[in-house]
Amino acid sequence: MSKTETKAKKTAPKSKKKEEGLVPIFIMGKQYEVPESLTIQKALEYAGYLLIRGCGCRGGICGACGTVYRFPDSYRIEVGLACQTVVQPNMYIAQIPFFPGNKAVYDIEKLEPTGSTIAALYPEIFKCVGCGTCTRSCPMDIDVLSYISKAIQGNVAEVAQNSFDCVMCGLCASRCPAEEVQYNVAILARRLYARHLAPKAKHVGKAVRNIEEKKFEQALDELKKMKVEDLKKVYKSLEIEPEMAEEDWEPKDKLCL
Ligand code: SF4
Ligand code: SF4
Ligand code: FES
Repeated sequence: MSKTETKAKKTAPKSKKKEEGLVPIFIMGKQYEVPESLTIQKALEYAGYLLIRGCGCRGGICGACGTVYRFPDSYRIEVGLACQTVVQPNMYIAQIPFFPGNKAVYDIEKLEPTGSTIAALYPEIFKCVGCGTCTRSCPMDIDVLSYISKAIQGNVAEVAQNSFDCVMCGLCASRCPAEEVQYNVAILARRLYARHLAPKAKHVGKAVRNIEEKKFEQALDELKKMKVEDLKKVYKSLEIEPEMAEEDWEPKDKLCL
């Protein structure tokens, strides 16, 4: 089970058939009564807000719905993904669909996969004070402080690996006293790792060669000429990879491999 699924199970609401109680919440300072089992995202919609930005996958994957909230009797600022966090009575809620972050511009082909590259593009990593607020803010339970420490040490591979579950929600950056934009440091490391350090996947190389040699053109032309009903039949007859398939799983029909 992936960490994303784990997180979703921990916080997503259970469906309720019986009538639910209502709880008071505050959206941009205005009070609303909403069903107690709703996520913040559904509560916003229940209250009449139309979410055009700050709402994507609704499943804890896209990171679009970063939200800050606090309770009247607490000094603490809390953060979470609106689609994964269930409302609680008297939450004061503000969504931050976009957090402005420093974003370096680069051509990944021309970069060396080293710590010096990260340091040159994001020199502010050295301002980290090690407070751990980023780690405590992360809805994906990533040890953000740890990967920033690895970035400071110049360990590209470990930054890439330790940040793999990042959904780019920006909540870590929104709380950082050192004004780091942790997720942009992390994605730089993952790009450097993927482009320059990771072993090349032979099957991808073969697939690219097949495309370049136009191996699939005829089959695609035939599909394009098919009626919708026939296309559906072809689709339904496809062999689907089992959920728990071994890494070397291959379909019996290898025409498209
Ligand atoms: S919140 Fe900022 S300063 Fe604090 S540990 Fe994380 S990166 Fe460092
Ligand atoms: S590392 Fe930062 S941007 Fe990535 S998921 Fe965690 S809080 Fe969100
Ligand atoms: S809408 Fe995608 S993570 Fe919440």
